[in-house]
Amino acid sequence: MSDPEASNPGSGALIAPSILSADWLAMGEELAGIASADFIHVDVMDGVWVPHLTFGPDIIAAAKRASDLPVDCHLMVADPAPIAREAAEAGADWVSFHLEACPLAHRLMAELRDAGVHPGIALNPTTPIAAAKEAVRYADMVVVMGVEPGFSGQAFIPRTVEKVRELAELRSACDLDFLIQVDGGVSLANAGILRDVGADVFVAGSFVFGVEDHARAIASLRQAAEAGA
Ligand code: DX5
Ligand code: ZN
Repeated sequence: MSDPEASNPGSGALIAPSILSADWLAMGEELAGIASADFIHVDVMDGVWVPHLTFGPDIIAAAKRASDLPVDCHLMVADPAPIAREAAEAGADWVSFHLEACPLAHRLMAELRDAGVHPGIALNPTTPIAAAKEAVRYADMVVVMGVEPGFSGQAFIPRTVEKVRELAELRSACDLDFLIQVDGGVSLANAGILRDVGADVFVAGSFVFGVEDHARAIASLRQAAEAGA
């Protein structure tokens, strides 16, 4: 478990490269290549809730040893509570799980907070913001999926922009301060508009790891977000 104060990001557009798109056999070099990012995004998939099977707590622990960046863990699993606990034990700084997979989301978020982890909830493309109206009060991060969870490299769903706008309006109306993360399909084509409507954290898998110069991709995405649409 980590010190949450040490894992609090700064202001401005925050970039979270998803290691789902990295070269898994060269993970040490891949992590070194994203040192200028703000988070390491670790997609945990169980092969049940989504078809793919990816990383577990050992990768989270290894990423913590290899990098100074906060680990932002995104659970796409049928039963989030036990894996969320293991992720916290492994040193994850932020743990988000899907509201659709966890009816008692507020309880798990409170438990994660007690364990020194920033709790978050993630919302599928077809889950309305209204469904998360109460749960967001317990969250340090709310993840708006820009694609169906499960794979990197999918096309961005345009309606995500309106969902982020609605979530940002809810955040200010309720005087809350969670970070809004957009995950899936993020690129130079949409980072500006997403930032304009209230997104803080930009997950990027194929955009960052699909090119040789990861640092340059991170800088260009940050710049595009901060420039706005
Ligand atoms: C999708 C994952 C994403 C994915 C993003 O289920 O949650 O984090 O890696 O990949 P891109 O940026 O390529 O859409
Ligand atoms: Zn993700």
